[in-house]
Amino acid sequence: MEKGTSPFLRLLTDSPEKTLFTVGLVVMIVWLGSIFSYAFVSTTEMRVEMDPDQQTILVAGGAGYIGSHVVADLVENKYNVVVYDSLYKGHKQSIVGLKNVAFVKGDVRDGDLLDKTFKRFEPVAVMHFCADSLVGESVIDPLKYYDNNVGGAISLLQAMGRNGVDYIVFSSTAAIFGDPEVDIISEDTPKAPKNPYGETKLAIERMLHWASESPSSTLKYVALRYFNAAGAHPTRDIGEDHSPETHLIPNVMKAIQGSGGRLKVFGNDYQTPDGTCVRDYIHVMDLSQAHVKALAWMIHNDLSGQFNLGNGNGFSVMDVIGSAKTVTQREVPYDLAPRRAGDPPTLVANSVKAKSVLGWRPEHDSMDDIIASAWRWHQAHPAGYKD
Ligand SMILES: NC(=O)c1ccc[n+]([C@@H]2O[C@H](COP(=O)([O-])OP(=O)(O)OC[C@H]3O[C@@H](n4cnc5c(N)ncnc54)[C@H](O)[C@@H]3O)[C@@H](O)[C@H]2O)c1
Repeated sequence: MEKGTSPFLRLLTDSPEKTLFTVGLVVMIVWLGSIFSYAFVSTTEMRVEMDPDQQTILVAGGAGYIGSHVVADLVENKYNVVVYDSLYKGHKQSIVGLKNVAFVKGDVRDGDLLDKTFKRFEPVAVMHFCADSLVGESVIDPLKYYDNNVGGAISLLQAMGRNGVDYIVFSSTAAIFGDPEVDIISEDTPKAPKNPYGETKLAIERMLHWASESPSSTLKYVALRYFNAAGAHPTRDIGEDHSPETHLIPNVMKAIQGSGGRLKVFGNDYQTPDGTCVRDYIHVMDLSQAHVKALAWMIHNDLSGQFNLGNGNGFSVMDVIGSAKTVTQREVPYDLAPRRAGDPPTLVANSVKAKSVLGWRPEHDSMDDIIASAWRWHQAHPAGYKD
């Protein structure tokens, strides 16, 4: 040890054993330090490498069905993504293996964790997919829906305000229209939700409107009102896995596979061509494209807007069953059941505004296309995601 070296260092290195111990100690401290520097956001953050030349988008609820498809599309479109999800309903498996994606496990109602996440990753915009979204459950437990859906949106908007983030794309729903008098629903169709789920989504839309209208506000938002999302990613191993599953197409797949019991067809005496309810099914990849376009439109023009998103074609329950039979070459075991209260005969979107303003076009508008992609996913994952 040279003259001038501190006595403390000399004490730690005055024999080969001590030197080895000291080097080991330093390596350990550096390693622990790196772990704790990542852990300040979350102990379960998976990766943090981001491309410094790309904009970062925070995707709340990005480990869910629609969110995970949008995350993959954002990456494809050269954005960094921070997925912020409590995994309360989502699946970590749905976002692994993507470049430039960080994951933070947290609740949107946790303002402190949101602040840390905004400060660390500096996103330019937020996409908000988090929600409870079971209509029946919302009737039984409305406060749960106001807490998570409205409370979550307030928390996220406040955190955006505190951290100077001005742009948000919000997942709204056709349920805000309730049981409209018209079959083809445009943005101007009167909004009259029939259940707490739809009410909470409409409340958030109204909150976004007023928050963006405030004289001191720089907030801009896009509310995308989805009709029925369906299908799965064509190349990534991701798809629809809700528990409980209430959506028709995954339940048709499960009935075919024998994992979900026989399908129930609720009512066959509606004023529709074959008597079963007609709905608008939009492929999840088309929905995803609409998000990417809406984000770019909002930021580029510094504008807010609301858009209905469907593929514009109505399919009855029997159309879906017929298509599933053709595509899978298997029988769909089903039983007729009485009508469900509050099910309108026909709900189809008019998406003219999204087409003309966002330049968006649904590319997978045939039911066979939608079913084929859903079938691929369900065949590969008959029991859904592993986690
Ligand atoms: N699936 C559809 O057909 C459909 C139709 C219309 C509207 N929507 C809306 O689209 C959004 C996404 O739907 P989805 O089918 O992908 O749902 P999903 O349940 O698959 O995804 C929601 C994600 O949000 C997460 N999440 C929920 N509450 C959270 C919270 N408080 N904090 C952090 N994470 C939370 C869940 O863990 C999950 O990963 C929802 O807002 C839903 O209301 C869906």
